[in-house]
Amino acid sequence: MRYSKKTMKLRMDYNNMMSASVGKDGFTDKNLSAIGDELTKAFNAVEAGKGKGMMGWADLPYNQDEVVEDILETAKQIRKNYEYFVVLGIGGSALGPIAAFQAICHLHYNDLPKRKRKGPKFYVEDNVDPERMEALLDVIDVEKTMFNVITKSGSTSETMTQYLIINNILTKKLGAKAKEHIIATTSKSTGNLIKIATKENYKTFYIPDGVGGRFSELCPVGLLPAAVVGIDIKGMLAGAKYMMEQCDSDNVKKNPALMAAALQHLAMQRGKNIGVMMPYADGLKFIADWYAQLWAESLGKNKKLDGSDCNVGQTPVKSLGVTDQHSQVQLYAEGPFDKVITFIGVDDYRTTVKIPEGCEEYPNVNFLCGHTMNELIQAERKATEYAVTKAGKLNYTIMLPELNEFTLGQLLMYFMLQTAYAGALLGIDTFNQPGVEEGKNATYALLGRPGYDEKRQELANAPQKQNKYII
Ligand code: PA5
Repeated sequence: MRYSKKTMKLRMDYNNMMSASVGKDGFTDKNLSAIGDELTKAFNAVEAGKGKGMMGWADLPYNQDEVVEDILETAKQIRKNYEYFVVLGIGGSALGPIAAFQAICHLHYNDLPKRKRKGPKFYVEDNVDPERMEALLDVIDVEKTMFNVITKSGSTSETMTQYLIINNILTKKLGAKAKEHIIATTSKSTGNLIKIATKENYKTFYIPDGVGGRFSELCPVGLLPAAVVGIDIKGMLAGAKYMMEQCDSDNVKKNPALMAAALQHLAMQRGKNIGVMMPYADGLKFIADWYAQLWAESLGKNKKLDGSDCNVGQTPVKSLGVTDQHSQVQLYAEGPFDKVITFIGVDDYRTTVKIPEGCEEYPNVNFLCGHTMNELIQAERKATEYAVTKAGKLNYTIMLPELNEFTLGQLLMYFMLQTAYAGALLGIDTFNQPGVEEGKNATYALLGRPGYDEKRQELANAPQKQNKYII
């Protein structure tokens, strides 16, 4: 293997969740022991569920040899024949590809000259803002573009709208050859996209039945776009597998994802209903977006598995170190005691930038000289961690030895396992999203989709807006 497990292992430092560091809001070993039985139950539930029902994602590091070869060959052809690669999708079908691209590729990848890029220019249409679509069409040449339509359900309005627009343009320009510019990634058994793909003879990759949108980055949803831009997808899967190995114990002190879930669970019980994710690396900026969907959609529920009512979940907030030190940290340090902050640090950045000598006559600037930006960002991460801890605010840190495919794979699997354990601790269905479905159905009704008359009526009967409350 290209990566060493020994040197590339993620570390979780939860000192600042414990009262010894953070004071009265922190937890003790006793608090953790007191929920020992719950943790064992949650661990066993996740173990028993792996590979079954909607936990097909737990098998992805092990069961994709064949599809990975197909993806690598397809990606090679795309790199050879196309200048642009565009993902059409939304939510779980877009956030993972964006996060992996940002994490591994050059931060100005699309601006690099062709010879320096490992693949075509890369775009993800994660919305239906007409200005965004027009802007995309302004910068790509559709005749040199491969479009990857990704939708598990095969019927999401946003994705199908993007597809309809692009297919129309392609067909007008290229006629029957339009199909050579579309790859479908969807469910093999349900939805409209698979029917369209079969009829149009699109190259198709399948999203396994047991893999939901927000858990899909390690299946063809994420792997094809990643491979196209030159990301080592085998390395990502190896990292994910390694995290599965690190989390194979019901001893919370030996299982980092279970520890994170346990501490977040205890925190939520004490009303810490906001979870801030603050990576100190631009490459990880969109991991916070991906995680926000994973955590919010999985845990934000109003029914427990036993049918009883609840209103649970923790609101994820995306933050970027050090940028957001200058916008949000004031609130985190001095605001309400309602948050858990997850810092993500990187030991070795992929480059070192020295701060040159200068401003000798200004000691308050000159002190920076001779240091590196690497030292500065590390110092700022440690300093912010210290400041919020001193203010008594719960926080913990995940350290990546380096940001690469192997550590990214570990990080993704760590968060997916953490979410599965947290859902089991809450006693909810982690893998459904009835709240999202409600909005999707209301959209269908408003736009006249057949079969949605009843929903249309329900919307018509809902309380109407009163002008007196609009100023
Ligand atoms: O996590 C989920 O299941 C959702 O957020 C979906 O990813 C999102 O709604 C897009 O759905 P689909 O892939 O079916 O188009």
